Amino acid sequence: MTDLNPQAKQMADESMVRGLDAQIRAIWPQESQLFGRYSLPAEPSILDACCGTGECSSRIAELFPKARVLGVDIVDAHLALARARCASLASRVTFEHRSVFELQLPDAGFDLTVCRHVLHSIPHANRVLAELARVTRPRGYLHLIPEDYGMLHFQRGPLDPRDFWHVSPASFGEKTGTDLFIGRNVYGILAAMGLDEITVDYVVVDTVRVPRETFAAILTAWRDGYAEPIGEHTPISHESALAYFNQMIANIRNPRGYAVWMVPVVSARKE
Ligand SMILES: C[S@@+](CC[C@H](N)C(=O)[O-])C[C@H]1O[C@@H](n2cnc3c(N)ncnc32)[C@H](O)[C@@H]1O
Repeated sequence: MTDLNPQAKQMADESMVRGLDAQIRAIWPQESQLFGRYSLPAEPSILDACCGTGECSSRIAELFPKARVLGVDIVDAHLALARARCASLASRVTFEHRSVFELQLPDAGFDLTVCRHVLHSIPHANRVLAELARVTRPRGYLHLIPEDYGMLHFQRGPLDPRDFWHVSPASFGEKTGTDLFIGRNVYGILAAMGLDEITVDYVVVDTVRVPRETFAAILTAWRDGYAEPIGEHTPISHESALAYFNQMIANIRNPRGYAVWMVPVVSARKE
C-alpha cells in the first residue's frame, strides 16, 4: 500500500514550523487579495484542510470577521500551535485532528474549502480533491495552493540550480508516489471532476516583491528539512543538496541577485 504521508517526518519537523511562518509572510500579502473574488454568505463556514500551525486559518478568520473556521491536520503538535495562535478567536476558529483522505465530516458543510501546500506532498491527489469537493456546498469554492517544483528559478553560480530542480523533484516524487509538479496538473483534475469557474493565479515570491530575508528563510527551512531525504530518495547526495540550497540562499541574499518562486493559486466552484 502506498504510504499516505510519505513526508510525515518533514511535516512534523521544527524546520516545517519555521518554513510555514516564512511562507505565509511571503505569500499572504498577494494571496489575500484573491479571496475577495469569492461570493460568500455573510457568515461563511470555512475549512482549512491540512492547516498545519494555523498560519492561514488565523488570517482567513481576520479577513472574514464573521466566519466560522475549522482547521484540520494530522500532526497534533501543529494543532496545539494553531490553537494557541488562535486563542483570541476560539469562539469561531477551532482545530481538529482529521485526515484529509477521509475527513469524516458531513457533505456540503463549507462555503469555502482551503488547502494550501499539501497536494504535492501526498499521493492520490485526485482522491483528496474529491474529498474536499464533497465537504464543500454546491456553489461553494475550493481554494488551493498546489506547489510545482518546476516553477522555481535561481541564478547560476558554481552550481547550476536548474540541474537540482530538474532532477530532485522528479526522483523524489517517483520514490514517494507523489506529484511534485501538481501545480500544472490540478486544472485538468478539477475540470475532470466537473468543477466550474476554475482560475489559476500566481503569487510571485521573488527578490523584488518579498523581503530577501523572508524568501531566504523559506529556502533555509527547506534545506534543513529536506536535504537529508533528497540524499536518500534522489541521485543528488545529502552534501550536494546542502551545497545547492546554500548557493540558492546566497543568491537570494545577494543585493544584486534575482530569484523567483511562482506559487500557483488555483480555485474552482462546485456546481
Ligand atoms: C506544508 S504544510 C501546510 C500547512 C498549512 N496548510 C499552511 O499553508 O500553512 C502541510 C500540512 O499538511 C498536513 N498533512 C499531511 N497529510 C495530511 C493528511 N492526510 N490529513 C491532514 N493533514 C495532513 C501536515 O501535517 C502539514 O501540517
